Amino acid sequence: MIRKARIEDVKVIHGLLMHTDEHDGLVLPRSFSQLYSHLRDFFVTVDEDGKVVGCCALNIIWENLAEIRSLVIIQEHRGKKLGRRLVEACLSEAVTLGIYKVYTLTEQTGFFVHLDFKQEDMDSLNQKIFIDCMNCPRFPDHCNEVAMVMNL
Ligand SMILES: CC(C)(COP(=O)(O)OP(=O)(O)OC[C@H]1O[C@@H](n2cnc3c(N)ncnc32)[C@H](O)[C@@H]1OP(=O)(O)O)[C@@H](O)C(=O)NCCC(=O)NCCS
Repeated sequence: MIRKARIEDVKVIHGLLMHTDEHDGLVLPRSFSQLYSHLRDFFVTVDEDGKVVGCCALNIIWENLAEIRSLVIIQEHRGKKLGRRLVEACLSEAVTLGIYKVYTLTEQTGFFVHLDFKQEDMDSLNQKIFIDCMNCPRFPDHCNEVAMVMNL
């Protein structure tokens, strides 16, 4: 089941986003402060016991631009379309908000191509997207992420 995140999910989301061997460098860790202030951005997916097994956030950047970020499904639940459903929930929310362009910065281009995202030059997006980049230890010489865009 996909649902909006609740306050009691924050510690689990924090754990999901921490670097582990399995997705080291693929997702940015977030501080508890960032997670509490952006909690309303998050969707989670829960298993049949109600345990959170994945998360994804839609972050509004500007007029008509939002970012999909913090997407993780735990290893044992991958390949079950949960990642797809979380992204689709974020896209649906973007439309509800009246935002018709959504991007993500990712190394997982194959996954996003499956979801019909198209690669786009980062410089064509709003400069505000570089704020996270500026604070990232991999920027600029060790970053392998590309911008994948969905026009809704
Ligand atoms: C990327 C990730 C979220 C995918 O989640 P998932 O639930 O396993 O993916 P899904 O089962 O929803 O896959 C949806 C589609 O993408 C395809 N796909 C999944 N991972 C893929 C990959 N790495 N490369 C290419 N295609 C991929 C699937 O075959 C499926 O295709 P279909 O719907 O046409 O059959 C998951 O592997 C993950 O958490 N990885 C580590 C963290 C990460 O890389 N996050 C993304 C950062 S932007």
